[in-house]
Amino acid sequence: MKRVFIRTFGCQMNEYDSERMLTLLKGEYIPCAEPKEADLILVNTCSVRKKAEEKVYGLVGRLKHLKKQRPELIIGVCGCVAQQEGEKILKRLPHVDLVLGPQAVYRLREALEKVRAGEGPVVDTEFRKDFRQPLILPELDGDRPVKAFVTIMQGCDNFCAYCVVPYTRGREISRPPEDILAEVECLVRQGVREVTLLGQNVNSYGRKEKGFPSFAELLREVAAIPGLWRVRFTTSHPKDLDEDLMRCFAEVPEVCEHLHLPVQAGSDRVLKRMHRRYTKEEYLAKVRRLREICPEIALTTDIIVGFPGETEEDFAETLRLLEEVRFDEIFSFKYSDRPLARSTQFEDKVPEEEKARRLSLVHQVQERITRETNESYLGREVEVLVEGKSPGNPSLWTGRTRTNHVVNFSGPEDLKGKLVHVLIEGCGQHSLRGRMLDSQ
Ligand code: 5AD
Ligand code: SF4
Repeated sequence: MKRVFIRTFGCQMNEYDSERMLTLLKGEYIPCAEPKEADLILVNTCSVRKKAEEKVYGLVGRLKHLKKQRPELIIGVCGCVAQQEGEKILKRLPHVDLVLGPQAVYRLREALEKVRAGEGPVVDTEFRKDFRQPLILPELDGDRPVKAFVTIMQGCDNFCAYCVVPYTRGREISRPPEDILAEVECLVRQGVREVTLLGQNVNSYGRKEKGFPSFAELLREVAAIPGLWRVRFTTSHPKDLDEDLMRCFAEVPEVCEHLHLPVQAGSDRVLKRMHRRYTKEEYLAKVRRLREICPEIALTTDIIVGFPGETEEDFAETLRLLEEVRFDEIFSFKYSDRPLARSTQFEDKVPEEEKARRLSLVHQVQERITRETNESYLGREVEVLVEGKSPGNPSLWTGRTRTNHVVNFSGPEDLKGKLVHVLIEGCGQHSLRGRMLDSQ
């Protein structure tokens, strides 16, 4: 059996695609832990921010010596950087054999055959209008996971001014509901208890296809699968978050009380230039309504600082928004120019040091809010789905609350995959600690 090494950068969509590539290679390749042991190396890449892209060039560049030692080694660059750069990757990294965009990762076997037949290097960055993600039923072996991702749609139609994704992942295409349900059922049969439904903008699921359910309807169908205990989903666009979906948090017991709702900025002027299509007040109104429907809901968000033209006053609006909403956690980034994204052409760029200053202010404000949010769990009893031993301390179990907070606790053997009740007795910046009360 040959060996494959996969390294995945970026979002959960990429993690999902990497898993599918491993499934496609089953029978021919087994995964290995080190590039030097591999016959095939795949780097699944992210281009959403400049930093992520630079990492890819660093890593793949360093593989050159392996290819020199063993010319039969096949090296593939997949995902968003592959899509964005195409042939250009071969100029910069001539030791690469495969360049596969996000749709083409599903054509991996064909591409490998061509390389082996001496027809390489292969560059496949074609977007097919009629692209349908094939149904590749997952086969979990070894240490089976408790939770899994399931992609429900590809691509994005929103064209936010800063974003490269519509160019790297193409237009929105929803997967047929029967494929999604079959995949989730297959995972549940293998012991998975929690799924996260993935898409760039899950709220617009099915809108372009005739006869497809809405996202809220799909969510209810997935949640009804026997043996599935928890359902999450990401990412949601604030403009498309409707009452039907909000009600799922209160009405569907399997839908966990956590929503990632990227706001990006707090100033209406910046939101408009970002082409986000909502105002700060509209965003806040949705947050209020969500909390009315489901008071315990945890909210997380993404923030970009230093978007072109963002003034000190605009930035102050972002800090105010953080104080107003009090997110459980945020992911914050310095704006970076991306090829093809519209804002790359904007002339009023914010200097690098100013972006760094704003980012650290955002961190400071949110660190306090996160700490206070974590402290509010002290003394409370929470339900935790146990994922396994804590990577940082193998004498502890780790899992998440329904609100997506990590909880570490000690307990008896064989808790993996169980729902337990934990009394929270301590907290750090990124996790809670507790004592187990009972299991179900
Ligand atoms: N610069 C900085 N951050 C970006 N993001 C997307 N594009 C850019 C960019 N050009 C951030 C957004 C998005 C997250 C996945 O990455 O906050 O929600
Ligand atoms: Fe990165 Fe975005 Fe592509 Fe995901 S979709 S891999 S975050 S660029």
